[in-house]
Amino acid sequence: MEKVTTTKLRQMKQEEMKITMLTCYDYPTSCLMNEVGIDVLLVGDSLGMVVLGYEDTLPVTMADIIRHTQAVSRGNKNCLLVADMPFMSYEANIGEAVRNAGRLVKEGMAHAVKPEGGRRIAQTIDAIVKAGIPVLGHIGLTPQSVHQLGGFGLQAKTVPQIEGLLDDAKALEEAGAFAIVLECIPQEVAKLITERASIPTIGIGAGVYCDGQVLVTHDILGLFERFRPKFVKKYADLMPLMKEALVKFKREVTSGKFPGPEHSFRLKEGELKKLKKVEQSR
Ligand code: KIV
Repeated sequence: MEKVTTTKLRQMKQEEMKITMLTCYDYPTSCLMNEVGIDVLLVGDSLGMVVLGYEDTLPVTMADIIRHTQAVSRGNKNCLLVADMPFMSYEANIGEAVRNAGRLVKEGMAHAVKPEGGRRIAQTIDAIVKAGIPVLGHIGLTPQSVHQLGGFGLQAKTVPQIEGLLDDAKALEEAGAFAIVLECIPQEVAKLITERASIPTIGIGAGVYCDGQVLVTHDILGLFERFRPKFVKKYADLMPLMKEALVKFKREVTSGKFPGPEHSFRLKEGELKKLKKVEQSR
């Protein structure tokens, strides 16, 4: 299978082929996503909520993202591997942002990084790109700004807000981002941005007109039940299946049904006889 690169994504936009992207935080899921041919794997800071159990993404650290990106990288052959830049790893100053982006590539083995924000971080994105690191932009609902935004609601609802978002998208493209994630915005706004941009847009809660779609894998597999945004489609309901397996394990261990002979090892006959003799002579 052909490796997915940032050039290939741009080509896909030109050829009107939809891009698929999913979050991925571990080795087995990475192997599966490679088998299926998902284009982009994102080690999202959503891992803080769906894997580490935090309330939001703010506590996620560079060490968390690096550890999980390494695991995903070990299972990855062909997908473009993008690592999220965690909260406060790129905001304080541009030098620190470039160094942290570099760590995600050098230590995490990511191919590209994703910070959140539009015009306000355009200079930072420009510096990261100039350091030779591809950047995926992310605008609209930016969960790291949850306290500033006042929640996880729909963005770009009024004309001034829409104009601001269009400027953000333009700034990201000019700064050298290879694609832009559009999160939780009306589909008409996503359509406008997608038509104006020469780089691909990848939507999450941004409607059907984007060049690609991304979702949080735990949401689509039914592995995160705390809340489910309107834009999530649940493709499987794994939690009850997992629960059933755990209940069966407990029941079989406590009743002595597990392990059965097929899961147990036996001594060779001769060795067993010797053991019995030794035991008798004690
Ligand atoms: O962290 C994440 O999962 C993301 C996606 C929602 C795009 O940034």
